[in-house]
Amino acid sequence: MFYANDNFTKLPESYLFSEVTRRISVYKAEHPESDIIRMDIGDVSMPLGNSVIEAMQKAVEDMASCSTFHGYGPEQGYPFLRELIAENDYQLRGIFAIDAEDIFISDGAKSDIGNLGDIFGRDIKICIAEPAYPVYIDANILDGRKENITLLKCLHENGFKPELPAKPADVIYLCYPNNPTGVALSVEDLKCWVDYALQNRALIIYDSAYEAYVRQPDIARSIYEIEGAEKVAIEVRSFSKTAGFTGVRCGYTVVPKSLDFTFADGRISNLNKMWNRRQSTKFNGVGYIVQKAAAALYTPEGQQEVKALTDCYMSNAGSLREALLKKGFEVVGGENSPYVWFRGNGEKTSWEMFDYLLNKAEISSTPGSGFGQAGEGYLRFTGFNTPEKTRRAIERLIKYL
Ligand code: MLT
Repeated sequence: MFYANDNFTKLPESYLFSEVTRRISVYKAEHPESDIIRMDIGDVSMPLGNSVIEAMQKAVEDMASCSTFHGYGPEQGYPFLRELIAENDYQLRGIFAIDAEDIFISDGAKSDIGNLGDIFGRDIKICIAEPAYPVYIDANILDGRKENITLLKCLHENGFKPELPAKPADVIYLCYPNNPTGVALSVEDLKCWVDYALQNRALIIYDSAYEAYVRQPDIARSIYEIEGAEKVAIEVRSFSKTAGFTGVRCGYTVVPKSLDFTFADGRISNLNKMWNRRQSTKFNGVGYIVQKAAAALYTPEGQQEVKALTDCYMSNAGSLREALLKKGFEVVGGENSPYVWFRGNGEKTSWEMFDYLLNKAEISSTPGSGFGQAGEGYLRFTGFNTPEKTRRAIERLIKYL
């Protein structure tokens, strides 16, 4: 007899952004003339750069003739893209511990973060810095680890930076620059975590989907900037926020060959080999056209386009941050991140603030409590809308907050 996965009953009723979208749809249906400015999910608004468009067009043409056609590609990604990533995102930045074989191309960070649990033991202890991107928690709940999760609260009191776990942890999820708070970690901050993992044989899942938004020199962009991290950390990255690929779908995960851990019975396992086996079994790779588009980001024109795009969103986030600070609110983020984390005046819950702004100002935000209890009383705004809509949103925020 078939039984459903009981862990589904342990999840929140709906995924955070599905609920946000549902409430927006209800409002729109009731107010067909509405002019909602979206500042909720981190979806980008600006078009793809020219170098990406041209590379995609060329790749489409390749698919039109027998001699250049591509069918199934390698599950790990095409070598041309893996090599470009290793060289540009790591070696040219002084990180020599990472090479092309450590890099696995995927359809985005969300899938990899959700799937990485396949290579973890069932009973391991998980620590997650909270507020958190909901996928870290939900994916572990689905894998049957709800009871094994400890949350490391990131609050005003600790500068929104997690403290080292009080009890031993086996896997630690960190995301910096942080989603949702926008707070970033310095190289020194991050070193404490790598040292902890090295001393405790813990594994760090480091989500650095927002590294392209780092603007200050002492802030870490990759965990592998820290010596020894290649023995204890997996890094997950995405082209979604870097290059406007939310609709194109491409990212990558770095699983260094030096990541040796043990099975429960003490045998040594190599996580690079395990992830390779997992991907070969359950994934058929990212399309050739998409990987060619991602490769174009590493040309000089592509790099300029990435810089222009991220500068544009950073300017939006900076304006939001300044406007809210000027009104006397507590705000973090927006300095090395496209997210701005805003604390209300304590009278309303996050969802009440969300509903208030949607109804009064026709602005959608993301309720802080959707990222966990540590986010209650906060809202997250994104800088991902166009400069023009962001300017109008700020005018409305000033009026209604
Ligand atoms: C967010 O808004 O937190 C992200 O865009 C969600 C995602 O990347 O899946």
